[in-house]
Amino acid sequence: MNAPLAKWHRLLITGAAGEIGSVIRPALADTAEALRLLDQRPITNPAGAEALVGDITDAGFLDHAMAGVDCVFHLAGIPRETGGSPDEILHSNVIGTHGVFAAARKHGVRRFIFASSNHVIGFYPAEADVGPDVPSRPSGFYGASKAYGEALGRLHADKFGMEVACLRIGAFRAEPGNARELGAWISHGDMAALAKAVVQAPRFHFLVLYGVSANSRAKWGGDAAARAHIGYVPRDNAENWAATLAGKTATPGSPAALFHGGSVCEIGFTGDPGRIA
Ligand SMILES: NC(=O)c1ccc[n+]([C@@H]2O[C@H](COP(=O)([O-])OP(=O)(O)OC[C@H]3O[C@@H](n4cnc5c(N)ncnc54)[C@H](O)[C@@H]3O)[C@@H](O)[C@H]2O)c1
Repeated sequence: MNAPLAKWHRLLITGAAGEIGSVIRPALADTAEALRLLDQRPITNPAGAEALVGDITDAGFLDHAMAGVDCVFHLAGIPRETGGSPDEILHSNVIGTHGVFAAARKHGVRRFIFASSNHVIGFYPAEADVGPDVPSRPSGFYGASKAYGEALGRLHADKFGMEVACLRIGAFRAEPGNARELGAWISHGDMAALAKAVVQAPRFHFLVLYGVSANSRAKWGGDAAARAHIGYVPRDNAENWAATLAGKTATPGSPAALFHGGSVCEIGFTGDPGRIA
């Protein structure tokens, strides 16, 4: 019987001062005997949790932060293509994530949840349904950094026996903001529910899930077994905003309209959309 976990001993949330971290923290408070929060920015209102300020590219700091931890929720990093140069994305998202996995491995962490992104599969044609097992086609350098994180996750599951879940989060907002987000949106409430479900799930080996609400126009899927395993049941549906967002579409024929990654595919685009199958 693969029963749900009782409680973790110590859960570490990296990037805890950020938008998603601030929303999921309260939902995760009772999933562990102790909660440790980490960010390079000061963490306001830690609500009884231990708060550590430092950089995930600092190995000594990470070694200290990982002591006694058995579950990691790794959010820290640059959260979008325009959040930094390709070199800055490499530094925080690739080198940083590499370091968080290495420290987790050293300290015998059992479960690692990685905040991946839908931008791992951004250059698939917008009309195609995309599952969790297709080769990566990043929307940009940010998506490529998340593909590396997912590969590290697979490695740590297969080679080192760590339980790893990669959440390909969609557009995390209070409300969807354009027509693309009618499929890609994840509400604050559903993100908190997803985080809690994956932290508390029965044992698993390696999972990839799309982090989206119960959107009627969702284009990403194929992850029903993983959702069922962790017990994620989204409640919200972006369709409630369909009438107001109908006109907020990308220019027909542009990379933003043609591919799953939307406007992120368009940033710095110098290719030929007609050659992308
Ligand atoms: N918000 C979304 O729609 C979305 C979608 C897909 C994936 N994600 C991923 O979820 C995670 C959290 O996103 P968010 O929207 O909360 O972003 P955010 O920028 O609000 O939070 C990220 C946090 O990470 C911290 N951080 C960045 N680099 C760091 C470093 N080197 N060392 C320590 N801390 C560092 C930042 O200070 C920040 O508080 C990110 O990894 C992002 O890529 C977000």
